[in-house]
Amino acid sequence: MKVAVLAGDGIGPEIIAEAIKALRALDLGIEFEEALVGGAATDAHGDPLPPATLALCKAADAVLFGAVGGPKYDTLPRPQRPEQGLLRLRKELGLFANLRPALIYPELAAASTLKPEVVAGLDLLIVRELTGDIYFGQPRGIRTLDNGEREGFDTMRYSESEIRRIGHVAFKAARKRVKRVCSVDKANVLETTQLWREVMTELGRDYPDVELTHMYVDNAAMQLLRNPKQFDVLVTGNMFGDILSDEASMLTGSIGMLPSASLDANAKGLYEPIHGSAPDIAGKGIANPLATILSAAMMLRYTFNGEEAAARLERAVAKVLAQGLRTGDIAAAGEPTIGTRAMGDAVVNAL
Ligand code: IPM
Ligand code: MG
Repeated sequence: MKVAVLAGDGIGPEIIAEAIKALRALDLGIEFEEALVGGAATDAHGDPLPPATLALCKAADAVLFGAVGGPKYDTLPRPQRPEQGLLRLRKELGLFANLRPALIYPELAAASTLKPEVVAGLDLLIVRELTGDIYFGQPRGIRTLDNGEREGFDTMRYSESEIRRIGHVAFKAARKRVKRVCSVDKANVLETTQLWREVMTELGRDYPDVELTHMYVDNAAMQLLRNPKQFDVLVTGNMFGDILSDEASMLTGSIGMLPSASLDANAKGLYEPIHGSAPDIAGKGIANPLATILSAAMMLRYTFNGEEAAARLERAVAKVLAQGLRTGDIAAAGEPTIGTRAMGDAVVNAL
């Protein structure tokens, strides 16, 4: 079992250190090898995804990823920006299926900005397509029109096969859960997503045991706040999934709690917390490492077939929360807080 470790920028190195500590404590014999990505790689090599990093990720069974980005890089030409490192990695490795579970721990129901009764018991899974859509569609650019005015343009596109393969992932995931899939689109306006709806509807006939519904993305954004427990699996395209998964994370109390898995067709995966590099708190030792630790658990489950070890790690996280241990982002007003390292140590102790 070989894992490429890409800590990246901002709080990335701090949270990744805690996830590795927890994985080592499980004593599974995993080999770790580190490489640069994002702004750190741009600083060192002028490229957010240097060839050596890509080669390491291709050779590894899985990638454990921290976060990329920071204000210092926002003015660079796009190819050198940290986010490109992540986007290219997703594309190069064919990681088309992004699983983002939003699960609420009972102790954190009060940390959500929504009323506890709205979120208590929440357990939904966002299945986001990750290598297509307006994120990658060509043509794109900024051009100057005949009248001298500039115009920005991007292309939203999805092929039938791209829609079908992410649909299969969603239906199969639903079979292991409550057997309900809600496909999110904007079929009332966008051709691309009208095709999305048609293909999902066809596919649904292959899964008669799973209930399929469709929802427009604006309504889905609203329903996630109104009654999030109506959802089991949400399947959607790259851009809508990006937005809805940030929204869903806040239902659980903090974006610092949400893990993710990005899988290829053979369960090779990249595992990362869904929060970003949080430059405002980087280097302070206060970031919440639990989303990264939970991402490591997803890695054990999906790439290494280690359901038991994954469940152990998840139970350890549940236990530290039950013990009342809190980083700043999940603490209620006045509650004492602990730092990144102490939280990682607590998870290791719980293991
Ligand atoms: C995410 C992030 C990325 C995305 C950025 C960093 C490129 O927001 O993983 O959700 O937009 O996909
Ligand atoms: Mg995002």
